Amino acid sequence: MKKIKQSWAEPYKIKMVELLKMTTVAQRKKALKEAGYNTFLLKSEDVYIDLLTDSGTSAMSDRQWAGMMMGDEAYAGSRNFYHLEDVVKEVYGYKYLIPTHQGRGAENILSKILIKKGDIIPGNMYFTTTRLHQELAGGKFEDVIIDEAHDSESNFPFKGNVDLNKLKSLIKKYGAPKIPYVSMATSVNMAGGQPISMKNLKELRALTKKHHIKIIHDMTRVAENAYFIQQKEKGYADRSIKSIVKEICSLTDGATMSAKKDALVNIGGFLAVNDYDVYEEARNMVVVYEGLHTYGGLAGRDMEAMAIGIKESVADEHIKARIGQVIYLGEKMMQYGVPIVQPIGGHGIFVDAKKFLPHIPQDQFPAQTLAAEMYLDSGVRTMERGVVSAGRKANGDNYYPKLELVRFTIPRRVYTQAHMDVIAESAARVYERRDSIKGMKMVYEPKYLRFFQARFEKL
Ligand code: F0G
Repeated sequence: MKKIKQSWAEPYKIKMVELLKMTTVAQRKKALKEAGYNTFLLKSEDVYIDLLTDSGTSAMSDRQWAGMMMGDEAYAGSRNFYHLEDVVKEVYGYKYLIPTHQGRGAENILSKILIKKGDIIPGNMYFTTTRLHQELAGGKFEDVIIDEAHDSESNFPFKGNVDLNKLKSLIKKYGAPKIPYVSMATSVNMAGGQPISMKNLKELRALTKKHHIKIIHDMTRVAENAYFIQQKEKGYADRSIKSIVKEICSLTDGATMSAKKDALVNIGGFLAVNDYDVYEEARNMVVVYEGLHTYGGLAGRDMEAMAIGIKESVADEHIKARIGQVIYLGEKMMQYGVPIVQPIGGHGIFVDAKKFLPHIPQDQFPAQTLAAEMYLDSGVRTMERGVVSAGRKANGDNYYPKLELVRFTIPRRVYTQAHMDVIAESAARVYERRDSIKGMKMVYEPKYLRFFQARFEKL
């Protein structure tokens, strides 16, 4: 007898829907032109399926919405803060909690406390806001991720791993006292949502312990990382996501969190640490930048939704369906021959625009062009992660990154499998007519983070 496949399915049913506007090609052509061919400048109303980001775009559960009604909007000592504190302790194991309005609020406070001018911050690939706060605090980021992470063709299962030899050379070159902490992200965003293995993290812990260097964990997508450990790492197949998440956190000294991703809320974040002195200073500093230490820029209801969302985010059936959907889309795109980054990561599909549009040179923005063409074809909004995002060097030259990608980021619990079919078919249609697609020129370039507001014209 043939073994019958056991499919995953969503561990929830739909109680409320948000209606979407359907647009015609002519309408999208006009909208795209008005937006200067930059998907960031489109009106959300004109978008059919929005894959710009997985940040703050999740659907909350009935329990989270019920929790919102239980918001205690006291200035000080809100009961929702104490609930959140209990949940962070229980689920992640960190001792002390400082809520912040979102991830970068926590990055700001932590960087100011731990980094001195001239310090070196090694990390497994940069993230835009994280690195900026490290630099603003006087530090210098050094990439210590394994080489495979920069190679869209490498099939290595743990492309988020730290190259310990790269870290050892930095320690040798600068000396451990110049390195306050290693900035370690789970599910490395800029590498395509690629996980770090528990084995690598344990080795990193041993090495940093020897040199009295902290590990600060960017835990924005820790549950998604835990899923890949459960599925791919020896010895973890029978472990729950919850227990893997807790083990990851136990190997680190503190964390910054953008709860807008894993934790299933539309706004919120926190800083969590084990060291009392760091906590004491952060508790003091949060008052300056975010708000009192029992709300950190959030409403009581936001903290309640976050506390409930954190618990839902580490349920095995949730994460299996969440990443199952991402993998479903990726495999479908591969069946159509669309070139994507492999292995498939946790929060989206990253299409290799250099391979998709090989006739368009990088200075004519192949990824930006592809994102515009996707929108034109079907109203699907994606994001450029290539030469436009990389920006310019101090001398004014463009950075030409090795990875020229378009990110199809999947919001959690928002779209159905039928939406995934529409997205894959649209990508396949654009791929079929790829030879006729022309590049673009930039006609307006803002000074900072140009990808948000730059404007283009078709060549
Ligand atoms: N760290 C990582 C890994 C992130 O992906 C983000 C945000 C942050 C920190 C900052 O958190 O936005 O709450 O201040 N990533 C979003 C994205 C913006 O689209 O990937 P934040």
